[in-house]
Amino acid sequence: MPDAACHVHEAPDALTLAQDLARFVATRLQEGVSQRGQALLVVSGGSTPVPFFQALAPMAIDWPKVSITLADERWVPPDHADSNERLVRAHLLQGLAGQAHFVPLKTADAVAAHGVSELEAALQALPWPADVVVLGMGSDGHTASLFPGSAQLAEALDDGRAARCLAVSAPPLPNVPVDRVSLGKRALLDTRQVVIHITGPSKRQLLEQAMQAAPASPLPISVAWSRANIPLYVFYSN
Ligand code: 6PG
Repeated sequence: MPDAACHVHEAPDALTLAQDLARFVATRLQEGVSQRGQALLVVSGGSTPVPFFQALAPMAIDWPKVSITLADERWVPPDHADSNERLVRAHLLQGLAGQAHFVPLKTADAVAAHGVSELEAALQALPWPADVVVLGMGSDGHTASLFPGSAQLAEALDDGRAARCLAVSAPPLPNVPVDRVSLGKRALLDTRQVVIHITGPSKRQLLEQAMQAAPASPLPISVAWSRANIPLYVFYSN
């Protein structure tokens, strides 16, 4: 991965990678708490973060001073199998980490478009910039719920857009084809460091492709290369 500003951390397997990432994030959160009295972590959903959440949850951090929110959410009830909130509650907000202040990205509204103003207010109350934003990447190059070719992509990536989140639609399978809420570029890059957490050689190949073409790449993950002066870390294993 040739970008000098991009630090690549490679581990021999997904579990070791998750533990390395958990130590990295825990250090950054504890630094935030020590230096600023509070810290903010933005996490992604999907399957890749589960071992990372499980490794982070028992770590000795001043969790009551840590806020956690999501990079995106599927518009399903919070106990639904596809809910990122359910994932975070089940695997991260456990034990010591259960004392963290969690801000979900789902309201009781029937559709995502009706919930975004309430979510925007909740997001604005968080202590930005985040200490760490952890992004995943789908096999189509999407990140958060910013999908290639999506009707809302230009709005999500608009530098002039003040709002932090927006309602988006998702393409069909293998993605979970339900309406979503996603953070846009403004919020995803309003952070002290960005992490891309991926496993498997095909994702690595796609990420390298996105990086080489960034910022002109049509793959939404390339948003990570449009940051200015923010360290980017790729945590990778086979
Ligand atoms: C979501 C995510 C999404 C995820 C990628 C990777 O809710 O769908 O936040 O952007 O990070 O789809 O998902 P996997 O880890 O399951 O491959």
